[in-house]
Order: sequence, then C-alpha cells, then structure tokens
Amino acid sequence: MSRIQSLTAVEVLDSRGRPTVHASCRLASGSAASATVPSGASTGSAEALELRDGDMRRYAGFGCLKAVANVNREINGALAGKDFADQAALDHCLLDLDSTENKSRLGANAILAVSLAFCRAQAAERGIPFFRHMARMAEQSPRLPRPMINLFSGGAHGGGQTAIQDVQIVVPSARSIAETLQVMADIFRAAADLVSARYGMRLLTADEGGLAPDVESSEAMLANAVEAIMLAGYEPGEEAALTLDVAASQFHSDGAYHIDGEVIDRDGMINLIDSWRAAYPIVSVEDGLQEADWEGWQGLCGRLQGRAMVLGDDLLCTNPARIRQAAAENACDSLLLKVNQIGTLTEALEAMRLARGAGWKVVVSARSGETEDDWLADLATGWAGDYIKVGSITQSERLAKYNRLLVLEALHGLSLTG
Ligand code: PGA
Ligand code: ZN
Repeated sequence: MSRIQSLTAVEVLDSRGRPTVHASCRLASGSAASATVPSGASTGSAEALELRDGDMRRYAGFGCLKAVANVNREINGALAGKDFADQAALDHCLLDLDSTENKSRLGANAILAVSLAFCRAQAAERGIPFFRHMARMAEQSPRLPRPMINLFSGGAHGGGQTAIQDVQIVVPSARSIAETLQVMADIFRAAADLVSARYGMRLLTADEGGLAPDVESSEAMLANAVEAIMLAGYEPGEEAALTLDVAASQFHSDGAYHIDGEVIDRDGMINLIDSWRAAYPIVSVEDGLQEADWEGWQGLCGRLQGRAMVLGDDLLCTNPARIRQAAAENACDSLLLKVNQIGTLTEALEAMRLARGAGWKVVVSARSGETEDDWLADLATGWAGDYIKVGSITQSERLAKYNRLLVLEALHGLSLTG
C-alpha cells in the first residue's frame, strides 16, 4: 500500500515552447517523484483530450493552467490521504473521478502526469529502478527496445514540404543501443552533408530534430535516405533499413489523398506504398491510410503483411477498443503505443497486452512535443517494447531517452530486443 500525501502540478514548456503539465507525487512514506507529459501535433481524433486553457492571451490558447489547477485542487483533494495498492488502483480512482469517456473534464494531461508521478514515487518507495518497477507491473522481463530513429521529416513535423511525415532508420544488425546510435550518427552526418550539397544549407527545424530539406517529393526523401546510408558506408537493408510514418490522415480530405501534387484514392495509396516498399528497404509503414478507413487498412495489411510491419498510430490511438477491432478485422499487425493518447499507465498496459495477445509487434513512441523527462525509456524497457520511436539523435528532449537507454544498457546488464 502507498499512501498519497500530496499531489502538485506546475505548468512547464515542451520542446515546441508550448505549455505542458509537470506533476509531483509525495507519498506518506517520504518517497516522492515527478513526471512531465508530452504532446502531439499530428494527433488522432480518438485520442484522450488534452485540456488546454483556450485563453488566446496566453500561449495562443495552449496554456495548461486549468489542467494544473485540476491536479492541485480536485485531484489532490480527492486522493491525498488515500492508500493505493498498485498503479491500477490509482488509475481507476482517477478515471472514476474524471468520469468522462475521453478524460475531457480533468484533462488527459492532468491525469497522465499524476499517473506517471505516482508510478515513479512507488518505484522510489520500493527502492528499485523505474524500469524494474515497470517490468514488475507488466509481469515482463525487461529488455531494451530497438530504436527507430528519425532522419527526415515533412508533413506536420517539417513544415509541410512533403506529404509524408517521417522517414526513420532502424539498424537491424546492431547488437546494442550504443552500436545503433553510433551507426545512426554516421548516417545523420552523411545525410546532413547530402542535404546541404543538394538543397543548400537549412536549419534542422523539424519538430523531432530530423532534417527537413526542401525535397521535391516524398519519394525523394526515401531516395535521399538510401543514399545517405550508402554514403556513410553501410549496406541499405542489411545494416540500416527504413521505417515510414506516412501520417496519411494529415493529407486526406474530401475522400482523397493529396500527395505531392497528385490526388489519389485509397487503392492508389496502397499501390504507391507497395511500390515504395518494393523499391526501398522499408520494414515498417505507420498510418499508411487515414484513421477512419478500416476497410482500406485491411487491404493495406493484406498487401504488406510479412514484408513490412503495418503499424497503427492514429488508427488505434492506444485505445483498447480500437485495438480489439483492428485485431478482429486484421487491419494492422503492430501497435504504436503513446501513453498520452489514452491517458493512464493502466490503460496503456492493457493496450500493450491486447497487442501482444494478437501476436503484434509494439513500438513505444514519444510525441513531437517532448520534454527532458526520460520516463519513456524506462517504460519501453520495462514493458519490453520491440521498438522505441523517439525522434532524431539531435535535441536534448530526444537524447534524454536515448541516453537513458545507454545507461540502462551499460549499468543494468540489459540487452537489445532480437
Ligand atoms: P505526434 O507525431 O506526436 O505529432 O502525433 C508522432 C507520430 O505521428 O507518430
Ligand atoms: Zn504517427
């Protein structure tokens, strides 16, 4: 049993300079911990509600003072002095208190900040590292996840110069996080040189730290990525493969996909993705179709299955009900797990278990608006995610997670998922 003494929150800023919620949990035993929640830009419409103030005089309406006040007043008032056996007991209490379907009353940002801070405080109370506490909660043996690292961005993350959002690198042959990051640094340097020679110098301004050159098309990003891999001295596919976040909902409107000057339908999109997969070493495709086209996803999954992962982000929104539907309909074969899409650790764990039960792979993901908090690395390791998606190897809000993985690898005898 852990008794909560107090819950407090403050408004802090994320990597886009937008407010977010930082919560602290003090237990009666004296153990205490804090956590900060991230925030997305290409959000799925089924995500839990991130409570924003809407006061245009502060941060263009993005302020989080209401969510912060909900922690300091209502949530603290209801939970302080109470005993909780475990994370599920705490999270269920938060869900009951909020009592809405999508956490719109108290805000998923307020609720998740408390859920995470309590989880860390319990780890501290038990005197074990956070990843180990997460592993016990999930009844898993901890394992390091394989990074999917952002190289190029377009779409909502890169100023919209291409339709597709992210081209990432995985290093399938790497035996460690340390080796993965070293290979990635070589590829990033080669890509930066290539971009500056081909498109002129450009600041690295994409939200997740990736390069965002003014490329002529989405496919040019893929060709440039393969060229960068080769320039860095690696074998495309064998030593460095590509994963895509198409984020197709972002360029779908009026029943069609508007991509690189063309307007195509669902079948056109499936054919295009499959042609990319045949021409480039692509091992995973996230959100290849828009989030509401369940029938189309079945077709995409049928076409790619066994060749590349069909990864659901906006389609699933880490929502257990949507994961059940996708598994029943064979709409995808892997889960992008973003804890703040659903809003509590307990529900995120349920999502993870459902995905595992369906035989899917799990990619634990950060958001495009992140902070220096590194809890995601412990979660991905403790819950034994197959992959972790954090963004580029630039920018400290990304590196906080990679550096934590390096420390876990070096100091805790953990190894990389197969
Ligand atoms: P978001 O992007 O955090 O902006 O939603 C990440 C993703 O789409 O995977
Ligand atoms: Zn995505």
